[in-house]
Amino acid sequence: MYDISDSDILPLSLEHTFWTWSAQAKVDPIPVARAQGVYFWDVDGKRYLDLNSMVMCVNIGHGDQRVIDAIIEQARQLPFAGPPMATKPRAALGKLLTEITPGDLDRFLFTLGGADANENAIKLARAYTGRQKILARYRSYHGATAGAMAVTGDPRRVSWEPNVMPGVVHFLDPYRYRSTFHRTNPDISETDFCHDYLNHLEEIILYEGPETIAAILIETVTGTNGVIIPPDGYLQGVRDLCDRYGILLIADEVMSGFGRTGKWFAVEHWNVVPDLMTMAKGLTSGYAPLGAVAMRPKIAEFFDQRTYVGGLTYNSHPISLAAAIANIQVMQADHLVEKAAAMGPVLHRMLVDLGEQHPSVGEVRSIGLFGIIELVRDRRTKEPMAPWNGTSPEMNAFRKYLLDHGVFLYTHWHTALIIPPLIISQEQLADGFAVLDEALAITDKAVEA
Ligand SMILES: Cc1ncc(COP(=O)(O)O)c(C=O)c1O
Repeated sequence: MYDISDSDILPLSLEHTFWTWSAQAKVDPIPVARAQGVYFWDVDGKRYLDLNSMVMCVNIGHGDQRVIDAIIEQARQLPFAGPPMATKPRAALGKLLTEITPGDLDRFLFTLGGADANENAIKLARAYTGRQKILARYRSYHGATAGAMAVTGDPRRVSWEPNVMPGVVHFLDPYRYRSTFHRTNPDISETDFCHDYLNHLEEIILYEGPETIAAILIETVTGTNGVIIPPDGYLQGVRDLCDRYGILLIADEVMSGFGRTGKWFAVEHWNVVPDLMTMAKGLTSGYAPLGAVAMRPKIAEFFDQRTYVGGLTYNSHPISLAAAIANIQVMQADHLVEKAAAMGPVLHRMLVDLGEQHPSVGEVRSIGLFGIIELVRDRRTKEPMAPWNGTSPEMNAFRKYLLDHGVFLYTHWHTALIIPPLIISQEQLADGFAVLDEALAITDKAVEA
């Protein structure tokens, strides 16, 4: 296709292309040649088990011919039509998403990815409510465009301050393992724990002035910042606070959507319907770039006679929409949401077993095929294996061991995330855990005796 040999891929990519999230001289990319199922291969034929679904997005697995064929067919029929046009994939995907999204979410704005889905959700909420402030959580990532970066709570925002979108107030996540409020009473009941975090949120709402707050934006299950699974009652409580104060609830399901947690969308675990819901990643399983904002009828109707001021050249791109339709059909035909739900306890058991065998495992958490291992130097003090926003020789060696032994996963500071394609089998997961088991010998050595 191109006059580039396998051995040229790495040097030419390094010489002429610029890498996101990286110091250019320090990148060490894997030259990927092909991918199939839960594996990808580099140009030397080395196989990697993909425990991160590439970028937490290849939910249906790599190389599914049904999605590839749909993309080819769409490219033949109509590779591009601008956002003002009505197209067949646009009509079909809107209908399909109405069927699989919860409650009365039935209108969809198609974006290029997750960050601009959140940008649009913020704009929609501000216009609809006539209010400006957005409340979001510290342990969150919502994307790297200006507004999405401002709502992001983690240090990826801090790097760009003070020049980020104004009007964002952050609050704390219900993160039980390191709960600020419960250092002296860690055994507090789930109900009281939940109330403490809802009270914290309500206090902030009152201090900020409810009449100034357009929306509360949260990752339903926090992703890169810790796979934080909200306690029962929390999401319902946030919904109630929103209703009480006329605030919109925006659920960011970019990572937690499309079967990742064992439901189509994580909000379904708690029977909560957000006013706006953002999605991307698993929407096309990465086969083409696409995000979306789902909205309830009241929000769509608000714009019946008012212009929505916003849009990009590639909104509703036909090839991406076709990829999404085929991807959802694959998920339905192969029962991948049900499969993820069934594999959830299997992954959880493997995580718990691993934790029991390794003193450097502080805690494991998972929901569906969305898991995390927190590595610590001391289980009692919970001192993390790498500092907040940092790394450590042990974490680097741990990651290197996994890669050397053909397991690809995402490490974030002192954590390792387990986010495999939803098609993974028990045997394939066990293969990955066997390597993890060996790699943890490295971090175990750092545990103070
Ligand atoms: C929860 C969440 N929201 C938003 C985004 C941003 O999505 P994108 O990278 O497609 O812009 C991400 C990406 O990792 C994410 O995990």
